[in-house]
Amino acid sequence: MAESTFDVVVVGGGPGGYVCAIRAAQLGFKVACVEKRSALGGTCLNVGCIPSKALLAASEKYEEAKHGLAKFGIKVGGVELDLPGMLSHKDKVVKENTTGIEFLFKKNKIAWLKGAGRITAPNTVEVEGIGTVTASKAIVIATGSEVTPLPGIEIDEKTIVSSTGALELPEVPKRLVVIGGGVIGLELGSVWGRLGAQVTVVEFLDRILPTMDGEVSKQMQRILGKQGMTFKLGSKVTGAKTASSGVTLTVEPAAGGAAEEIEADVVLVAIGRRPYVAGLGLDAVGVELDNRGRVKIGKHFETNVPGIYAIGDVVEGPMLAHKAEEEGVALAELLAGQAGHVNHDLVPGVVYTWPEVAAVGKTEEELKAAGIAYKTGKFPFLANGRARASGTTDGFVKILADASTDKVLGVHMVGPNVSEMVAELAVAMEFSASAEDIARTCHAHPTLSEVTKEAALAVDGRALHI
Ligand code: FAD
Ligand code: NAI
Repeated sequence: MAESTFDVVVVGGGPGGYVCAIRAAQLGFKVACVEKRSALGGTCLNVGCIPSKALLAASEKYEEAKHGLAKFGIKVGGVELDLPGMLSHKDKVVKENTTGIEFLFKKNKIAWLKGAGRITAPNTVEVEGIGTVTASKAIVIATGSEVTPLPGIEIDEKTIVSSTGALELPEVPKRLVVIGGGVIGLELGSVWGRLGAQVTVVEFLDRILPTMDGEVSKQMQRILGKQGMTFKLGSKVTGAKTASSGVTLTVEPAAGGAAEEIEADVVLVAIGRRPYVAGLGLDAVGVELDNRGRVKIGKHFETNVPGIYAIGDVVEGPMLAHKAEEEGVALAELLAGQAGHVNHDLVPGVVYTWPEVAAVGKTEEELKAAGIAYKTGKFPFLANGRARASGTTDGFVKILADASTDKVLGVHMVGPNVSEMVAELAVAMEFSASAEDIARTCHAHPTLSEVTKEAALAVDGRALHI
């Protein structure tokens, strides 16, 4: 190792860690990033956001070529799935993205220390196979998260898989059972469903996407049901027997009652993720965790040990790449004496099913629980010209605004391309926009974003095209 002293040493090269490293380098710090994986980019680029979106995009195209083009007057024959080709598309996209981060590290003169890091003192990190490095300004813990295991269900990444195994199944299972009706379950369930699997989602609670707005959950269950996904809500898996013919799952009502058996060729366990700090030496150095195993931090990402900070999935808040990135930037700026800040109330959430789901701000359930009076404006894609022209009319935009001030408090979308549309609302809400502000902003015609404008008009009961 040429250098062993740095200003900032980041442990973990995912969206939190690599972005923090880049911003710190831009601000003039001498930076190293310790990453034990053979590629940079963390969970997101290697086995998360990027490969899942590559498969979602590819499977959407397959589905559309097979069933979705006739209504446009396009006849397609002989559409066939080339699964190895689809998987290599995904691998290529991952490689392009991860090597892109290597390029950014070189450009910003960030040292990638390839190996597992262990914090041995408030300013030193021992990197396996490399040696000890010192950080004069800060050590940043950005070690991310791992799959939450389900007791009694052993993941072998072949027949019982986590999201990682579900990104590289060598063939399309006839029957896929997904345990957990959250984001991963619905996204990867959609991929394999489009490719031909019969997908059953077993969800513990009485609704899918339990953290999202209730109306969104209901609508998505209806739409995904029409696409062929089946749901066993209020149910828990209590056992799995693996044989050469597949897996027999024992499923019981969550509230107790008679058990039943479900047969599957592949089972995907997607019941959440938990913070990852294994081997990091936090005990020895005295960094405190909270009661959910997350690194405890204060307002400025500082742990209880001076000089050690933490960001991303390993700390509180939604486990999302963009949240981790924002924290990485804010922390680097704080270390440079600037006013780095993340507005944790306005982190958008997106589910990349078809149609997509996107949200920012409070749900109706949260507003009710907080006793905040609100008005609702809702507009369906069915009444939008562009959506009709594109044949994508499922879904709606719902805007929740404060009953007295009209300030937008929450936006919930189901529909085509809402992953992109939600950014307009995030900006508007950052500037404390009212529904009236959005309603009076000229939106191009014909665009899907007119649905947002109409929803904002509907808050005041004056939508035009319905
Ligand atoms: P990570 O990305 O987990 O990176 C942590 C890195 O630290 C890892 O590379 C790990 O190898 C390394 N590391 C850990 N310990 C050590 C150590 N001791 N020494 C050296 N290196 C270490 N989020 C979204 O916003 N949008 C999406 O579409 C999305 N899709 C997802 C799909 C799937 C299937 C999954 C699993 C997740 C998805 N996520 C998505 C979540 C997203 O991946 C995470 O929120 C994000 O990666 C968190 O970034 P991070 O930097 O905190 O941690
Ligand atoms: P999740 O928290 O989104 O969903 C887990 C689901 O499993 C919940 O509905 C929960 O009620 C259910 N569940 C919990 N225990 C259960 C049990 N024993 N039996 C049946 N159901 C049970 O977690 P998921 O889908 O694993 O994803 C992990 C995280 O990864 C997400 O929370 C998100 O932060 C991130 N992610 C984000 C994506 C995106 O932004 N598009 C895509 C994929 C993952």
